[in-house]
Amino acid sequence: MIRSVVRGFGAALPKRVMTNKEMESRVDTSDEWIVQRTGIRQRHIAGEGETTASLGEGAARAALDRAGLTADDLDLIIVATSTPDNTFPATAVNIQNRLGMRHGAAFDLQAVCSGFVYAVATADAYIRGGLAKRALVIGAETFSRILDWSDRTTCVLFGDGAGAIILEAQKGEGTKADRGVLTAQLRSDGIHGDKLYVDGGPSTTGTVGHLRMEGREVFKHAVGMITDVIEAAFEATGTTADDVDWLVPHQANRRIIDGSARKLGIPNEKVVVTVDLHGNTSAASIPLALDAAASDGRIKKGDLVMLEAMGGGFTWGSVLIRW
Ligand code: ACO
Repeated sequence: MIRSVVRGFGAALPKRVMTNKEMESRVDTSDEWIVQRTGIRQRHIAGEGETTASLGEGAARAALDRAGLTADDLDLIIVATSTPDNTFPATAVNIQNRLGMRHGAAFDLQAVCSGFVYAVATADAYIRGGLAKRALVIGAETFSRILDWSDRTTCVLFGDGAGAIILEAQKGEGTKADRGVLTAQLRSDGIHGDKLYVDGGPSTTGTVGHLRMEGREVFKHAVGMITDVIEAAFEATGTTADDVDWLVPHQANRRIIDGSARKLGIPNEKVVVTVDLHGNTSAASIPLALDAAASDGRIKKGDLVMLEAMGGGFTWGSVLIRW
């Protein structure tokens, strides 16, 4: 049986860090409110010349270096993003060009904060279906560029950045002991479209628009949706919460992360948290967290790693990987 095994990982963050203190000078908020409600202490904000494609390229190069590979060794690039450099061509094709890659296929995938989970599931399906051998999966965002910087209910929550992993076709036994992606569980329900959206787009307003969110409504659904797809992943693979070495959640809000882990019975020591440093970087948050925990030696080869996310759409999903 073909498995999609992690060969490398990498990340890139904008140089500029914006603290909660600095946020206080922009909108009527406080460090205390932001930390208490979200766990966020700072976020990185893209500056001049830094775009979704440039950050994605940085993460891609770091992942290739770590894997000892070059772009010649890839045959697929998927970029999960809701903040592409342009409406088209896809940011993935832009990154393909930046990497000097003239073969294979590259495309963007849009599932907002669940984008990385959707992209890993898609790359895994391509690899297992024989359409690709080695895929670069990137989550890259510049949400700072679609924020309404006068709206304190949203602008304090988000940040910019990019993370990437490389998945490679390898033979497995078809058991839960195999390295690689063991299962992916994806869900969406468009009835929630008006709870978290961007109020513009090429086909409606002809503008880029700004992010709008009914935070309390999103919060209300988050824990239930997240725990459902994680339980579905356990059921599909014959694993339990006790088998999980690391939970790597989408980093939107510390309270959602803690609530989900508690409901599943996964202890805090097994949860990777970076929301304090990065804020909510949407599709980039999971690969940024993976990079942090795999770089410092927490996530090791053979560990069972559960990824989960929930976001605009709503979309939500989980991926269980033996690292
Ligand atoms: N600073 C100070 N006060 C604020 C701020 C702020 N930045 N923002 C809102 N407030 C005020 C509100 O105006 C309100 O005041 P009022 O009581 O006088 O009306 C009060 O704080 C409470 O507001 P709530 O919205 O009820 O606060 P809540 O506890 O729900 O926290 C938050 C808000 C952090 C947004 C929370 O609802 C949340 O995290 N929601 C989920 C967001 C999320 O997870 N998104 C994930 C998907 S993101 C994606 O897919 C792109």
